[in-house]
Amino acid sequence: MATLVQEAVPAGGAATSSPAETVTLRLWRGDARGGEFRDYTVENLGGEVVLDVVHRIQAEQAPDLAVRWNCKAGKCGSCSAEINGKPRLMCMTRMSSLDVSEPITVSPMRGNPIIRDLVTDVSYHFAVARRIPGFHPGPPEPDGTYRMSQVDVDRVQEFRKCIECFLCQNVCHVIRDHEDNKPAYAGPRFFVRLAELELHPLDTLDRRELAAKELGIGLCNITKCCTEVCPEDIHITDNAIIPMKERVVDARYDPIAWLGRKILRRPAPTPAAEVASLTPAGRSGEVISIEPRTPPGGPA
Ligand code: SF4
Ligand code: SF4
Ligand code: FES
Repeated sequence: MATLVQEAVPAGGAATSSPAETVTLRLWRGDARGGEFRDYTVENLGGEVVLDVVHRIQAEQAPDLAVRWNCKAGKCGSCSAEINGKPRLMCMTRMSSLDVSEPITVSPMRGNPIIRDLVTDVSYHFAVARRIPGFHPGPPEPDGTYRMSQVDVDRVQEFRKCIECFLCQNVCHVIRDHEDNKPAYAGPRFFVRLAELELHPLDTLDRRELAAKELGIGLCNITKCCTEVCPEDIHITDNAIIPMKERVVDARYDPIAWLGRKILRRPAPTPAAEVASLTPAGRSGEVISIEPRTPPGGPA
C-alpha cells in the first residue's frame, strides 16, 4: 500500500497563495523495491503541460527525480505515465485540462517493471517487436518500380503513425494484471504492427499463424481500451485487430476463401515457419524474459 508524504511547502509559497496560484503534483517516488507518493507544490504559471511542471519540480525541489522524455512534442513516445490514473503522454497533457484544485497524481506505467520514480522498463515491448518479421516485398515491376493504390497507402499510413509510447500496452487488461500472459501475448501495439505489414499489398509474408500461435491475438476480446488511450488516434481495434482476427480465421477455417485462392491461382504467401526462418536466428522461438513487476507497495 503506497503511503503519502507531504513535502514541506517552500517559504513564501503555497501557504500564502490561493489554490489557483499553485499546483500540486503527487509524484510516485521509489524503485522496484517499493515507494510512495510525494506531493510537490509549485507556482501555477499557466500554459504548461504536465511535463513542464515535472521539470520545474526536478529543477527546484527534487533534483534526483527520474523521468524519461525526449521530444516534448508528442512524437518520441518516451514520456508515458499515468496521470490521475489514466495512461497519457506527460508532454501532451495540458495542465489546463486538469482540475488543479486537487493534487494531480503522476505515476509510472503500471504494466511495466519499475526502474525508478516515473521511469519504467520497456524492454518487454522491444523483445516482442523482434519476433515480428519486417516488411518483405516481392520483386519490383519490370520498370523497376513498385505501385500500390492510394487506398492501400492510406490504410497502412494510419498504422505508421504509431510513436511506440506503449500506452495501449499499458492499459490492455490481458497483460496489465496478468504478467504470466506476456510470453504468449504481443499486445495492441504489435497487432497494429502486424496489420501494418499484413495489409500492405506489396508484402509477401504470411504472419497469420504467427499472430495466432505465438502472438496470442485470440486472447484480445476487443474491449477497445487500447484505442481510447492512443495519442495518435489510431483505431487500433477496428482497423488493426479486427481485420487481423478475420484474416487469421480466414486462413484457418474459411473454405470459401480457400476455394477462391485455388480458383484464382493466387500464389500461397510464405507461411509462418518460413517467415520465422527469414528473421534473425532464433527469433520465432525466442523466449521472452520477463522481469517481475513492482512488488506490493508500488503504485496503486
Ligand atoms: S481491445 Fe484487445 S488489445 Fe485492446 S485493450 Fe482490449 S483486449 Fe487489449
Ligand atoms: S498504437 Fe497508439 S497507444 Fe499504442 S504504442 Fe502506438 S501510438 Fe502508442
Ligand atoms: S517527450 Fe516525446 S512524446 Fe512526450
